[in-house]
Amino acid sequence: MIPELTKSSVSMRDPKRVEQILTSMRNAGSSTLQVISDFDMTLTRFAYNGKRCPTCHNILEDSKLISEDCKDKLQNLLETYYPIEIDSTRSVEEKLPLMVKWWTEAHKLLVEQKIRKDHLVRAVKESKAMLRDGYKQFFDHLHQMSVPLLIFSAGIGDVLEEVIRHAGVFHPNVKVFSNYMDFNDSGVLRGFKGELIHIFNKREGAVLNVEHFKELQSRFNVLLLGDSLGDLNMADGVMNLQNILKIGYLNDKVDERRQSYLNTYDIILEKDETMDVPNAILLYITGQ
Ligand code: TMP
Ligand code: MG
Repeated sequence: MIPELTKSSVSMRDPKRVEQILTSMRNAGSSTLQVISDFDMTLTRFAYNGKRCPTCHNILEDSKLISEDCKDKLQNLLETYYPIEIDSTRSVEEKLPLMVKWWTEAHKLLVEQKIRKDHLVRAVKESKAMLRDGYKQFFDHLHQMSVPLLIFSAGIGDVLEEVIRHAGVFHPNVKVFSNYMDFNDSGVLRGFKGELIHIFNKREGAVLNVEHFKELQSRFNVLLLGDSLGDLNMADGVMNLQNILKIGYLNDKVDERRQSYLNTYDIILEKDETMDVPNAILLYITGQ
């Protein structure tokens, strides 16, 4: 049906069910489709030439906008909490307060650095952030077909927007839910706006953004892309949901986490740094 689904990076718990969902979505057409995607390590690459690529937070961490002391502190937080984020032996309930602690402490450190809004463009330009291979086809195709793309990220909205703007793919059909920086009148970071979005509260975020999903009521088919089990809740606010196809990038600790990803995502992509599978699926669904 879709040759890319036979790639060695692809696994499916139930290929027949995937086929049924895809057929339903194709029959309903692109006017009933919306795409909801995570950002860090889903739209961006996990690694390049054997080296880790940065998340939104890491882009700032690696930049000249923050002091060496702050870099060390952020790095310590990452070394403490990232292993917990991806630990398959701990429950979400156990991880949740620790993730809140990670995000809260990291944001506090960033605010202390008095980051200037007008320096963000350069920080992104000089960073090693990379969107996955095939990203341009992904964004451009959705734009051409007028399919809304919601990027739902626990990263930093201002940084994320700059990454996609710099790549030339911040099209009008793209909407972002994320943590946005709050700058004072002089353009200096003084905090973050609204409710904190962290890796395990995307359900609450989805439900809070009811207006967005109301506007998209007639788009009852969802293609969801994520890399964390917390991303599975990103579509919880979708109204009149009929079909959802969940694609999960399994980037790290592949053997330990394979079973939990197979149980929850419809299609898993192991150590696959490309958008080949989502692109092929989109072409199929939209009948191109
Ligand atoms: P995502 O929802 O767009 O994937 O963004 C969340 C990622 O950000 C998650 O994998 C952890 C990462 N992160 C950092 O790399 N550094 C930090 O300081 C924080 C708070 C999160
Ligand atoms: Mg992610």
